[in-house]
Amino acid sequence: MKHKQKICAVIGYPIGHSMSPAIHNAAYSKLGLNFILKAIEFQDPLKAITEMIENNYTGYSVTLPLKTSIIPHLDKIHSIAKEIGAVNTIVNENGKLKGYNTDVNGAIKSLKEVINLTKKKAVIIGAGGAARAIAFGLKRERMELLIQNRTLEKAKALALDVKCNFSEINPELRKGFDIIINTTPIGMYPKIDRSILTEIPKGCIVFDIVYNPIETKLLKLAKKRGCKTINGIGMFLYQAAEQFKIFTGKEAPLNTMRKVLMESFI
Ligand code: ATR
Repeated sequence: MKHKQKICAVIGYPIGHSMSPAIHNAAYSKLGLNFILKAIEFQDPLKAITEMIENNYTGYSVTLPLKTSIIPHLDKIHSIAKEIGAVNTIVNENGKLKGYNTDVNGAIKSLKEVINLTKKKAVIIGAGGAARAIAFGLKRERMELLIQNRTLEKAKALALDVKCNFSEINPELRKGFDIIINTTPIGMYPKIDRSILTEIPKGCIVFDIVYNPIETKLLKLAKKRGCKTINGIGMFLYQAAEQFKIFTGKEAPLNTMRKVLMESFI
């Protein structure tokens, strides 16, 4: 007997350029699963939740601006997502909605491919949702952190939550750190000639969570300084792969997802 198709969606606003449908749908096809992931525009979290229940959607991939505002509408929330205060994944278990955050493991896995995090010191540039997920993830690895942000108040609020230092965006204060992580959208398509930093210490590792373009201006500058770089592709893929497993119960075909993502940039 053919099972009824399970419907998932990536939700947020704007949503038109999301890569999530392409990579999730390719992965469903690869494993022969009767699933589909659509893109649906929502700015109102309550509307998104009401539609999930009414249409019996299986899962949501949640992006801006809903990652925090949707939390009060959920029935259950996974401990990591609760600690961070942001979800990027919701699964519908017989009408009960549970929220997860897969950005954390996505970022940490991507970093660990390149560097052993033990006893390392990292500067996180930015204090938004992505910075929050990464800061909590790195704190779990017992790393020393410095949050630098344009708006000092926001840096302070995040630093108080994760128990670390904070400052304005200041190159002097980055000396002696092993890793610099950009979590701001600076350098993202279409404004690709911008970089949040120009002064990059020699010998550090630079991670930019922006993945479009794959090599941002910041990463180009870092390479010129002889630094190792990590682009945002790994984080995006790993958060999607964990999300896929939450939706389907199956391990994601990572190579298929990576291939589709890379082809979308050609
Ligand atoms: P996300 O959830 O994707 O992290 P966000 O919550 O909007 O997105 O956060 C964006 C981050 O990028 C913020 O830290 C923001 O700094 P402010 O707190 O000062 O707003 C930072 N950011 C955005 N545009 C910036 C710019 N032009 N210069 C410096 N920082 C910028």
